[in-house]
Amino acid sequence: MIKLLGRFAFNTIKQPSVAVFNTKKYDIDYLTKVNTSLPEEKQVKLSFFAEQLNENSARLAHECDTVCCFVNDKVSAQVLRKLSSQGVNLVALRCAGFNNVDLKEADKLGINVVRVPAYSPEAVAEFSMALLLSLNRKIHKAYNRTRDHNFALDGLVGSNLHGKTIGLIGLGKIGICFTKICKGFGMNVVAYDPHRDPKLAETLGFTYVDESDIFYQSDYISLHCPLTPQTRHIINDHSITKMKENVMIINTGRGALIETKAVVNALKKKKIGGLAIDVYEQEEKLFFKDVSQEVLTDDVLARLLSFPNVIITGHQAFFTHEALMNISQTTLNNIYEFKVKGSCVNQVHPS
Ligand code: NAI
Repeated sequence: MIKLLGRFAFNTIKQPSVAVFNTKKYDIDYLTKVNTSLPEEKQVKLSFFAEQLNENSARLAHECDTVCCFVNDKVSAQVLRKLSSQGVNLVALRCAGFNNVDLKEADKLGINVVRVPAYSPEAVAEFSMALLLSLNRKIHKAYNRTRDHNFALDGLVGSNLHGKTIGLIGLGKIGICFTKICKGFGMNVVAYDPHRDPKLAETLGFTYVDESDIFYQSDYISLHCPLTPQTRHIINDHSITKMKENVMIINTGRGALIETKAVVNALKKKKIGGLAIDVYEQEEKLFFKDVSQEVLTDDVLARLLSFPNVIITGHQAFFTHEALMNISQTTLNNIYEFKVKGSCVNQVHPS
């Protein structure tokens, strides 16, 4: 019966009951808005929880068959076992990355995992350029100065992007959008990706190079690959020694692509000329929260925040109206498709 498609099949199954973890006001607003705009047979029952999904909070999903999670929820083996014992059979990620899910354990338990593979690559690519421009032209410093009525220019000299080389690690959906933007600025784009598409390179006008050449050749480096065992700490002491003096690094990928202590040392030695990150290795305890009234106990982050040539944002590269609409629409559609068909085009399988 479940194999049948369409309205009839959905009517014969129970309305999905979804526990949404790690919710902020904007999650509630967008998911509710999209859910109520759907035809009745496609709507789900949403229960919102502010808590991060972890071993302690998993029990909150006790009346639900689906959990909906975000990047910093811990979908570990233990959490999955707990969810499974409560009757959960679907994890609907409202993000693209799935490095926080134990896919093998999910598979063993018969829990399916679906995600939103692309909610707005343009949003992330545009934000990457915003970070690059701010860092390169010291707009973050100028903003503070002029608010204090200081209109002096000393110390604000930047560089033209035009004619400079930018190295991209990861040339997928976001990397492609970012390449187009960089080409618009007259930059020379080199890219490293284990999966090469020569036709794409020719059309967009970039050059594939080896991983080491990204470090040797680039004036700016931007990270757009997923976090995997191969890419963890791809920016480390060793790769930094290969880089040009004063290189600037942008990371909107995942925090652990950078070995933060190595970058702090290189900033202190002035080998790295600037760093702009939207993601941070230890972001899970801090990001998406207001901890401004608390003492910052993360000494590495405190050191990073002390550099004049470091910009940190709290994982907001995706954060546009268009992306939030896409996330909500795709997440609810994934749940519907899975419940009707027993499978989903956006399903993630263990490799
Ligand atoms: P995608 O899957 O379209 O592209 C990823 C590319 O990385 C692929 O072409 C793949 O071949 C390549 N890749 C895989 N292993 C690699 C390696 N060892 N070295 C170099 N390249 C490698 O993914 P998309 O949509 O472009 O997203 C990229 C990443 O951006 C995501 O995995 C996610 O971590 C991050 N992201 C960050 C957001 C934010 O708000 N800061 C929002 C969305 C995604």
